[in-house]
Amino acid sequence: MQLITTIAAMRTARADVANLGFVPTMGYLHEGHLSLVRRAKAECGCVAVSIFVNPTQFRPNEDFGRYPRDLERDLALLAAEAVDFVFAPDAAAIYPEGFGTYVVLPAADEFLEGAARPNHFRGVATVVCKLFNIVQPTRAYFGQKDAQQSVVVRQMVRDLNVPTEVVVAPTVREADGLAMSSRNSYLSPAERAIAPTIYQALVAAQACYQAGERDAATLKATLSARLAAEPALQPEYISAADPLTLHELTTIGPQGALLSLAVRLGSVRLIDNLLLV
Ligand code: PAF
Repeated sequence: MQLITTIAAMRTARADVANLGFVPTMGYLHEGHLSLVRRAKAECGCVAVSIFVNPTQFRPNEDFGRYPRDLERDLALLAAEAVDFVFAPDAAAIYPEGFGTYVVLPAADEFLEGAARPNHFRGVATVVCKLFNIVQPTRAYFGQKDAQQSVVVRQMVRDLNVPTEVVVAPTVREADGLAMSSRNSYLSPAERAIAPTIYQALVAAQACYQAGERDAATLKATLSARLAAEPALQPEYISAADPLTLHELTTIGPQGALLSLAVRLGSVRLIDNLLLV
């Protein structure tokens, strides 16, 4: 496994590879990331993983400073998966003095995470576009947990004619259903015990959908009622949206729905979703 920190060295390393899988990450890896790495390895043979805590996707009041980082541990995990290249640039390489070009998808800020975190997706689309330009992957792998991120990246790739195939893989969960996330490390033991209620609430609404309910407000009310069993869980939004456009639905039709939510649990903000199909 080669650890690469400069753009020039990443381009050189990549030059001889015909089929390159890529997993962009912000580090502090968990089983969710590793499942993407395994899939990339199985499908492409050669895999690059980036580790870069991207400052432009955090708002000023968010957790950029305290975002968990442990490069040594990440490198050991990636070596065990026989990853070929780890690209871990510093911020000055990605955002040099005078940097001023962003990839903006204005509609992204109208919905869900974009509405709750204005400019977050400008930062995501910009860094993913830059990483794709540097790594030039054949396929890039993202997790369904960040559902809107996948929609944004797919649109960016389509709009800018980026020759990379975007693969979205299912959310990986802890045994009790909590979606894996680097931010779970912020939870206190008491909060960690409460957090699986988020998935239970999604599953309750999914069961209602599977029983034939198609009214979005009823499904959201079911989810909300299950969450309310834990007053420490403070919902920021609960949504049933078209899975492709992310427009909020009143009735769920043949396209199904992305049922998603963001909640506050103490000082921690958690997101999760299920696709109703
Ligand atoms: O999902 C993430 O970890 C980040 O948003 C990504 C895609 C690595 C861009 O910084």
